[in-house]
Amino acid sequence: MQELFSLDGRVALITGAAQGLGAVMAETLAGAGAHVVLCDRNAEGLSNKKADLAAKGHSVSDVVFDVTDTPAAEAAVREAAKTHGRLDILVNNAGILFIKRIEGHTIPDFQRVISTNLTSFYAIAREAAVHMAPGGYGRIINMTSIMGLVARSGIISYVAAKHGVVGLTKALAAEFGDRNINCNAIAPGYILTEINKSVQNDKAFYELVNSRTPLHRWGRPDELAGPILFLASPASSFVNGHVLMVDGGMYAINLEPPSLP
Ligand code: NAI
Repeated sequence: MQELFSLDGRVALITGAAQGLGAVMAETLAGAGAHVVLCDRNAEGLSNKKADLAAKGHSVSDVVFDVTDTPAAEAAVREAAKTHGRLDILVNNAGILFIKRIEGHTIPDFQRVISTNLTSFYAIAREAAVHMAPGGYGRIINMTSIMGLVARSGIISYVAAKHGVVGLTKALAAEFGDRNINCNAIAPGYILTEINKSVQNDKAFYELVNSRTPLHRWGRPDELAGPILFLASPASSFVNGHVLMVDGGMYAINLEPPSLP
C-alpha cells in the first residue's frame, strides 16, 4: 500500500515554491522521498524555504528564475534533469492575481497575468516532457483554480488564464499520453495564503466565502498535501486530463462566487 504513494528516487521540480501552496506541496513531495527542485523569482524566500526543508532532512535544491523568462525557465528544467539524472514530476504552481474591474484592467495587465499563469505553464511543461520521457514515469500537475471553471467580476485576466490552464491540462494529457506522462490539474477554492490577503482582510468577503462553502470555512495550505501526493505518485497511474477540485465543495453547490472588489 505504501508503494502507491512512494516517490523514492523521483525528481520533482516545482515553481512558486518559496511560500504558500507551492511550499506545502514541495515539502509533501520531499516527504514522500523525492528530490525536490524548488523554483521561484523570490530569491530570499526561496533560500529560506530550502534551508527550512533541508533542516528537516529533505533532499532539496533551488533555482531562482522568473517563469515568464522562457529561456531561463527552459534552462532550469534542462539543468535539473542533467544534474539529477532524471525528471519525473513537474508542478506548475507559480501564479499571480490582479484585482481590478474591467475598466482598469489594461491590456498589459491582462498579458502579464496570462504570461505568468498560463504561457509559462506551457513552456515549462513542454521542456519538462522531453526529460521525463526517457525515465518512463511522468507527472505534470498544473495549478488552476475554481476560477478555472466559473467566473466572477474583478479578476478577468485570472479567470481567463485559469480556464486556459484547464484546457492546457487536457491538451497536454492528449499530447503526452504516448510518452507515459500523465497531466492533471488541481483547482483550489479559497485557501488562506498571501495571494488573496487583501480579500481575507475584507470581513464581508471572508464571511461570504464561508457561507458559500459547504464546509463553511476557507481552506488551509496543508490541505493541498493529499491532492498533490495523489497526483504525483503511482496511485494516480490511470488518472489523466483530470481537474481535481480542492474547494470544500464550493463548486458542487454551484452558487455564484462573490464579486470583487
Ligand atoms: P502565493 O502568492 O502565496 O505564492 C505564489 C508564489 O509564486 C510566490 O512564491 C511568488 O514569488 C511566486 N511567483 C509569482 N510570480 C512568479 C514568477 N513570474 N516567476 C516565479 N515565481 C513567481 O500564492 P499561492 O496561494 O500559494 O498560489 C499558488 C498557486 O495556487 C497559484 O497558481 C494560484 O493561482 C493558485 N491558487 C491559489 C488559491 C488560493 O486560494 N490561495 C486558489 C486557487 C488557485
